[in-house]
Amino acid sequence: MIHYNQEQNVFHLFNKDISYLIHVNGFGRLETLYFGEKLNDVSDILNARTLYTECTYLDKKMSLVTPTPSYFYPDTLVEISSHGIFDKRDAPIVIQHENGSYLTDFEYVKHKIYHGIKPLDGMPCLDAPLERKESLYNKENVDTLEIILKDITANVILHEYLSVYRDKNIIVKSFKIENKGKRIKLLRAFSMQLDLPSSDYYFHHFHGTQWVERQEEINKIYDGTQEIGSTRGRSSHQENPFCFLSKERNSLTDGEVIGFNLIYSGNWEMRVTKTPYDSLHLAYGINDDDFCFSLGRNESFDTPQAVISYSKDGIDGMSQTFHRLIKENLQTDKEREHNRPLIFNSWEGCLFTFDTKVIKSYIDDACKLGIELFVLDDGWFGKRDNDKSGLGDWFVNEKKINLHEVIEHCHERKLKFGIWFEPEMVNPDSDLFRSHPEWALGYEENKDWSHLERNQLVLDFTNDDVVDNIFEQMCKILDEYDIDYVKWDHNRILAEHFTANLPAEKQGEAYHRYVLGYYRLLSQLRIRYPEIFFEGCSSGGGRFDLGTLYYVPQIWTSDETDGASRAYIQYYTSLGYPLSTISSHVSASAQTTYPTKVDIALFGTYGYEMNPNKLSEREFAEMNRGTEIYHKYHDKAILNGTLYHLSNPLDHDEMSMISVSQDQSLAIAVYYEKSNIVMRMDYWKLKGLNPKKRYHLNLNGVDVPETYSGEHLMKVGYYLRDIFRRQNKTILLILKESNY
Ligand code: GLA
Repeated sequence: MIHYNQEQNVFHLFNKDISYLIHVNGFGRLETLYFGEKLNDVSDILNARTLYTECTYLDKKMSLVTPTPSYFYPDTLVEISSHGIFDKRDAPIVIQHENGSYLTDFEYVKHKIYHGIKPLDGMPCLDAPLERKESLYNKENVDTLEIILKDITANVILHEYLSVYRDKNIIVKSFKIENKGKRIKLLRAFSMQLDLPSSDYYFHHFHGTQWVERQEEINKIYDGTQEIGSTRGRSSHQENPFCFLSKERNSLTDGEVIGFNLIYSGNWEMRVTKTPYDSLHLAYGINDDDFCFSLGRNESFDTPQAVISYSKDGIDGMSQTFHRLIKENLQTDKEREHNRPLIFNSWEGCLFTFDTKVIKSYIDDACKLGIELFVLDDGWFGKRDNDKSGLGDWFVNEKKINLHEVIEHCHERKLKFGIWFEPEMVNPDSDLFRSHPEWALGYEENKDWSHLERNQLVLDFTNDDVVDNIFEQMCKILDEYDIDYVKWDHNRILAEHFTANLPAEKQGEAYHRYVLGYYRLLSQLRIRYPEIFFEGCSSGGGRFDLGTLYYVPQIWTSDETDGASRAYIQYYTSLGYPLSTISSHVSASAQTTYPTKVDIALFGTYGYEMNPNKLSEREFAEMNRGTEIYHKYHDKAILNGTLYHLSNPLDHDEMSMISVSQDQSLAIAVYYEKSNIVMRMDYWKLKGLNPKKRYHLNLNGVDVPETYSGEHLMKVGYYLRDIFRRQNKTILLILKESNY
């Protein structure tokens, strides 16, 4: 809900738990008065202002003015810092005017308050379906404050959108920059600024590489500016846009936590500045490295939506809010909510080396694992027997594979069939590249192609013709063959980003326009093939972000498929993203045993990926335990459950979580210890159960004779006897209400 106090010029955005207050001061600048736990009485709120100064300035008539209060005192907490005046914190928007000046300072003009949230054109956003028909969505649960401001020197209008959810502790922020005057250059177009009065927080962020994605790092906010982000053209393995601040160092249940994420898949940046006055200044949005967007008269630019989740109950409060937001308000493929097939993927089993006979034998043996969908990964198209050629040529390599026969083989066994694409890439050794070399990014600046990565280049998705060509090629395959699933990969970063499609003065638009091209293709295909299930992937988890999750229900989380390292990747990923988005398979990797790999993969979407011809009867049996759990409990407890984190790998070399069904009648908990030396937890204290219900327990496949109350399991914990300690690196506990 949003109240406007006209007398005080104060906006109050709130729901039953949180308040966000903004004041339009005497100079028409927006001050951020408060963000935090719900305030019931806001009558004293103007006393929260942090601006007392004797700054003087010359007004337009050249007379000396001493304003009290002044808007440019450097410690004032503001909504939108100016640029080129006294405020030296990062301004969210920076404009270069026609005369070269960078002066950017927005003054309040008017505001609107309405029910619902505005959709963004051509970009993923909350609550809007793929095909946008309305001007506002989710009028029942979201309210929006739109503040309209004008630059003090140029005819540039800024719209700041602030939305508050009634049913979730979520604030959404974004900007629209509308040029009504002479041509300008946008040098920075972030999605939000957030100023907080104290810098006494810990900053958590998730960094890594391919195979080691999203490792949590925690540091106390320090003096100066800390910056995380991506310049790789995708959200990246190296840092994930999800990050958060916490008052306690690492408490899952206590203290204030403020989480951030951006609904975007390209370059992004979060800058966290501790000011000399000990306040905190956050600026977040599209990365301004190599970014420069030119806007002519009547052109506008929309920034992606930044989402802020507030919790006073520790990390899990924030994390569960994000999970609900992603499932209920972001993901457009609602069809898949309860309908995720058990997948078998061919990649780790045979890589590029297969033919029709091999794949049919894979299908036959994979059937013994109770699978529901078979995916033929890379290698079925063009001239593609290794990663040196073929990308861009999306026609079946009939010498290698008879796709109709393979699909029929699946259907005869009541299996669905899926296939791999990497639509945004091209190998120089491909028909597409030979006929259109200029369709590769960097073509004009780098004609000798010395900078191949995985022997490939990135297609210029700023160019509509390129996107249309790939769309048509993909449609041809999807129309001719009976395909139920598409795995969408992206295995190269955008290293060179020069586009032959744009003039010199627009080269700074390449990264963003590329992302818009990716969204357009994905969106067109989703609309044309509503029954096809699309899964995201990017060398594992290089594009695990909210932009992609708007279009696809799940993303291949990492190319690391061994349970040992996967356990932590999945745990950390699940702090920001629901388990239903975390695509996870059991593979043949040798570090951990199949029972352990099954237990870890179950805390994701679950599937298999290995050479099934090589599996022994014992291994089939070990994995079929997972298949059985998957079919009986996975949908209710994991895909649609509420996730609680129980033990964090950063503090102890172990991880543990429990996912509880909505009616609390079913839960699955996992415990994993890396060292396997000493089990720290004798009493495994669970969360999220109904204290009054009694639960029947099954521990690593063995039924526990006695039942336990939810209260006992949460307050005392389940005593892990020695017998269970050494068998595995994991313990999987299934809890069913005793009359389940
Ligand atoms: C990426 C993906 C893998 C597989 C290969 C195929 O690395 O992450 O799962 O699809 O590409 O080339």
